[in-house]
Amino acid sequence: MTAITEFQDENTHPSTGRRNSTVLNPRAYVDSSIWTRAPVLKGTTKFDPLPGVSNILVTGGAGFIACWFVRHLTLTYAGSYRIISFDKLEYCSSLNNTRVLEDCPNFTFVQGDITSPTDVKRCLREYNIDTIFHFAAQSHVDLSFGNSYQFTNTNVYGTHVLLESAKAQGVERFIHISTDEVYGEVDAAGDDVLESSLLAPTNPYSASKAAAEMMVNAYFKSFKLPVIIVRSNNVYGPHQFPEKIIPKFAMLLHRRRRLLLHGDGSPTRRYLYAGDIVDAIDTIFHKGTIGQIYNIDSRDEISNLDMCRRLLELFNLPHSTSEDLRSWIQYTEDRPFNDHRYATDGSKLALLGWKQKTSIDEGLRATVDWYRRFGEVWWGDISRILTPFPVVYEGNEVFTREEYEAWDEQSDGGKPMQINGNKSYTM
Ligand SMILES: NC(=O)c1ccc[n+]([C@@H]2O[C@H](COP(=O)([O-])OP(=O)(O)OC[C@H]3O[C@@H](n4cnc5c(N)ncnc54)[C@H](O)[C@@H]3O)[C@@H](O)[C@H]2O)c1
Repeated sequence: MTAITEFQDENTHPSTGRRNSTVLNPRAYVDSSIWTRAPVLKGTTKFDPLPGVSNILVTGGAGFIACWFVRHLTLTYAGSYRIISFDKLEYCSSLNNTRVLEDCPNFTFVQGDITSPTDVKRCLREYNIDTIFHFAAQSHVDLSFGNSYQFTNTNVYGTHVLLESAKAQGVERFIHISTDEVYGEVDAAGDDVLESSLLAPTNPYSASKAAAEMMVNAYFKSFKLPVIIVRSNNVYGPHQFPEKIIPKFAMLLHRRRRLLLHGDGSPTRRYLYAGDIVDAIDTIFHKGTIGQIYNIDSRDEISNLDMCRRLLELFNLPHSTSEDLRSWIQYTEDRPFNDHRYATDGSKLALLGWKQKTSIDEGLRATVDWYRRFGEVWWGDISRILTPFPVVYEGNEVFTREEYEAWDEQSDGGKPMQINGNKSYTM
């Protein structure tokens, strides 16, 4: 297991000295015992262990959904499966997400990059991996409008590296985590889409996820790699980095700050609690069929404006009149393109016996409670993530765009241009 060093977040950068930014350090303890006070959250399903499965690699295991899945597999199948969490430790991850597992003999964390064939092959060989769950990705749609190369590199090329390495290793199962966004938007009157529907992604994030799926399918057809693809609706819950709508808004309200809503707030999304997607993926793993695609669907479809209302209510803030809403919501320019809604049909997964357990009311209550207790210190200083101004990431360093441009000018053009690098903008 990788050794963990303790140090605090600072406004300094190892190579460039002091500047206006926040360096997020996914290894750092901001509060060294925070994770010991957090509830151990996982799914609820348990199946008979699969014959032939022993060593499972989970990519992106220090990120949001995968950390729930890693905790679930490690604790639920302690006597049967060994779990290797493989993560590059990008800005949105935190080792706090799996620290509770550090003493489990069937858990190992490996820091590595899915775009590095050397990192991946070494890990597959060293741990004799027979099963891969591939979650690691650049996952924030807003950022994909700024630095889409990073999305293609991680989501498409990274998936390709994993597939090629899995083929060489001869893995028994490769479960690829995809998204409902690959279908593109569905009209208000449109039917829920089936797994056989055409893919029509509309933003660089969803296009990169769709492209990754094409590669997964190619390895299934060309090399008989035993793959399964899952496409989930939006997921929310504790442990999600506060750049996404629910945790960001929860942290803004916690600080009694206004919510920043894209456009008029009318686009809807279907939301699934993290514990439910864990159960769905566990069900697909143990009962699903190789070569199949499964939608993971939620029945809770909510507009962004309605999400603001629900969160205001949970924070006991006024939300019933339009004046109340105006005082808490700041409308900002919409994304270059914003799908109005996604709608998937989950009947194929229902046949395997899974159904959504957590209602949006219950899930949001648990989520808000968690962010009130832990959100300020789980990832380090998140002030710049919550800023109303566009944010720039350079690796794990966060600037507002103004700060970034001021520094860029000051550095007199001496700064290397980041094309394939880690610089990303978000609105
Ligand atoms: N969050 C959602 O609502 C949602 C919905 C449907 C599908 N998905 C999919 O689920 C997966 C997980 O999403 P999430 O929201 O938990 O993401 P996240 O952004 O919280 O976590 C992504 C993780 O991947 C890691 N990572 C990024 N690049 C890497 C690299 N090159 N090598 C190794 N690790 C790397 C990051 O460090 C991070 O820990 C993604 O594939 C996403 O497309 C997410």
